Amino acid sequence: MTNDLATNQWGLGVTTAAPDAAAALDETVWSYLSIGRETGNLLKTVLDIDPGLVMGHCLKGYFFLLMASGPLQARVPKVLARAEEGLADASPREQAYVRALQHWAKGDPGAAARVWEEILADHPLDLLAMRLAHHTYFYLGAAGDMLGSIERIISAWDESIPGYGFVLGMRAFALEESGDYTAAEESGRAAVNIDVVNPWAIHAVAHVMEMQDRHSEGIDWITGLESHWNAANNFRYHLWWHRALMHLDRGELDEVLRLYDEDIWDPDSDEYLDLCNNVSLLLRLELLGVDVGNRWQALAEKAAGRSEERLLPFIDCHIVAALAAAGQLEAARDMATAMVRAGGVFAGVGGTVSNAMIAHRAGNFADAARLLRNVRENIVSMGGSHAQRDVFELVLRDAEAKLA
Ligand SMILES: [Fe+2]
Repeated sequence: MTNDLATNQWGLGVTTAAPDAAAALDETVWSYLSIGRETGNLLKTVLDIDPGLVMGHCLKGYFFLLMASGPLQARVPKVLARAEEGLADASPREQAYVRALQHWAKGDPGAAARVWEEILADHPLDLLAMRLAHHTYFYLGAAGDMLGSIERIISAWDESIPGYGFVLGMRAFALEESGDYTAAEESGRAAVNIDVVNPWAIHAVAHVMEMQDRHSEGIDWITGLESHWNAANNFRYHLWWHRALMHLDRGELDEVLRLYDEDIWDPDSDEYLDLCNNVSLLLRLELLGVDVGNRWQALAEKAAGRSEERLLPFIDCHIVAALAAAGQLEAARDMATAMVRAGGVFAGVGGTVSNAMIAHRAGNFADAARLLRNVRENIVSMGGSHAQRDVFELVLRDAEAKLA
């Protein structure tokens, strides 16, 4: 059967046997950019409408990989095979999406990002390629690429095009991570003015305020927009985390613990970002002398379930820190050894940071400080934001203070 070509709301062709699938696909992409809770269900609807839709299977594969979870990653080859079945009829843009999925599934997100950039060079309105590249650069610690990616396409956009707020939101975060706080805030606020349902843009402005120590303003900003971002998927916990950081910086430690228990900790979540938020906040509280009680034990149970995965060194360092903090030093050491054995950035930076976290926990402050100083300059290659990586700097300072 020859598939007809439908058009999406950005004028891009969608090869489908059921033209209704194009609008449903748009809705799914929109929900992904909005960090909405219904994204997965919307994608199911797309594949119900057209079970052979190449872009539907690509999205499914991407979403599994974005979750950075072992069980979901194991399902990607099957999804990729379904996408490849439609290759012959697919457009060059769709074929490129399949190629990107092939690279990412093989563990090479950088190659996938190059393919998304090729798509953007021909189709600068392709929000999906833009968001996927943005995410990938973020976890490769490549703030310059994150910014360059948006700056190359932004002249093709204006407010009359649906989704411009998402572009400005990504631009805001890329500018913030590049240290241009004034432009970042301007872009983030402009994004929110276009459409307030944009947790990524709200988050970018919160980052600016965190970096500039504007804690009261940051709390007001996050709290004032809560009804909009709190409809997001688990990413909402990350915004609560940002709010907690601001209270922490103001010395309101009881409020931080309250936020941890009531708004940030989700006993049922196994998402990596939640794990990182939790570890990071408990560590910061402890460094300020707070007794966090048995919270590490609950967290370490989750962490232990993910200790065999080698998905992102950024995640692994947090898992090691949780295991060590819960007193499971041997399990933490085994994991750090596995990271070193994995090679690449897992070994060079991730393994070193992990060993430093174990040393710090074991009271070997000289080792902790030496290891963290060794990777200080290239810790960025582990990915994550400045605010997230800052916890390792705080551990270094604590180790140095205890040595003095
Ligand atoms: Fe953040």
